[in-house]
Amino acid sequence: MKEKLLILGGTEFVGRLLVEALSPDTNKEIFLFNRGKTNPGLFSEITKIIGDRETDDIEKIKSQEWDYVIDFSSFYPASLQRTIDQLNKSVKKYIYISTISVYDFAKYTRGEKITEDFAKVSCSPEEAIDTTMRTYGKKKMACEAVLQKEEWLNSIIIRPSVIYGKHDPTDRFYYWCRKVKMTKEIVIPNQGENNLTLTYADDMVRILLHALNEDLPKGGYNCGTHDPVSFNNMLNWMKESIGSSSQLFGIDRQELRDEKIALPISGLCDLIVDSSKIKIASGLEFSSFENSVKTMMAHFEKEDWPTAKAGISDDEQEELILKFKTKI
Ligand SMILES: NC(=O)c1ccc[n+]([C@@H]2O[C@H](COP(=O)([O-])OP(=O)(O)OC[C@H]3O[C@@H](n4cnc5c(N)ncnc54)[C@H](OP(=O)(O)O)[C@@H]3O)[C@@H](O)[C@H]2O)c1
Repeated sequence: MKEKLLILGGTEFVGRLLVEALSPDTNKEIFLFNRGKTNPGLFSEITKIIGDRETDDIEKIKSQEWDYVIDFSSFYPASLQRTIDQLNKSVKKYIYISTISVYDFAKYTRGEKITEDFAKVSCSPEEAIDTTMRTYGKKKMACEAVLQKEEWLNSIIIRPSVIYGKHDPTDRFYYWCRKVKMTKEIVIPNQGENNLTLTYADDMVRILLHALNEDLPKGGYNCGTHDPVSFNNMLNWMKESIGSSSQLFGIDRQELRDEKIALPISGLCDLIVDSSKIKIASGLEFSSFENSVKTMMAHFEKEDWPTAKAGISDDEQEELILKFKTKI
């Protein structure tokens, strides 16, 4: 008998990459539970249970005795509780995709390392049912608390920072790659000195495969896969990988805010997320940022650089630069 793996989600970004990586695994029978809205044509060979987990549809997962569950699509504690209520004790591991937004950044002091025991945010009953992104980290924290309360459940909680990689629906990282390729001058926040903590989707998949297939103690794990990297270094590696001579044009972050401009991934700057716990526990080595940037630039080259969904357009960028040059 094959072991049964239920993936809640699995058709958009990291979930999709994970299913692609898992598909050749003949020891596990994979099932996907989702609404059938996102990329419904994918994975025709895999059994799909179609339903909205925020409704009674979640009861459909009761039909099987699962060995493993990997949960990408849980954002509300009440519906996560309901999901767990459909499971029986056959579940050997419940792998939950959380986020570093569960940490209380208001308590962060510059230079400090965010390890797994760093202060967390709290979530009120009203926030737990709020449907806006404003309460995203709080609700994810409440979801973690639901898992931790279920003592019988071997839950492994993965906390990525901003994820970049193939199939990212947000284009937040791609925005910068495309600006390097397509524009001569690129607006960056401040002088590009602020650091980013990023998670490379391919390495996150390797973490998830390890969590699924190997022994990993129950609990929470940060999963930033690179040391912090500055905007300057990130853009310089992007430039180098395609031989671009674009210039970087720094604008003070406050001035960008005054212009009502939020440049992609520039929000969570200068946090140092310590992911040594997962590195030590798994023994995994992650890709160097330089190499993953090269891989991504080559990937986008093949995709022919479509317009980015995030950030400002090339024309808006040009106007902004002109405005600030005239100011100077
Ligand atoms: N992107 C980042 O930078 C980042 C950073 C930190 C943490 N995260 C976490 O990563 C997770 C998302 O990862 P991903 O996009 O890579 O996952 P994914 O599994 O590739 O895509 C999301 C899946 O959820 C399904 N889904 C959405 N709403 C649903 C609902 N109400 N009922 C049933 N299925 C539903 C979607 O399919 P249908 O639309 O067809 O239902 C889709 O298959 C989230 O938990 C997020 O908090 C992301």
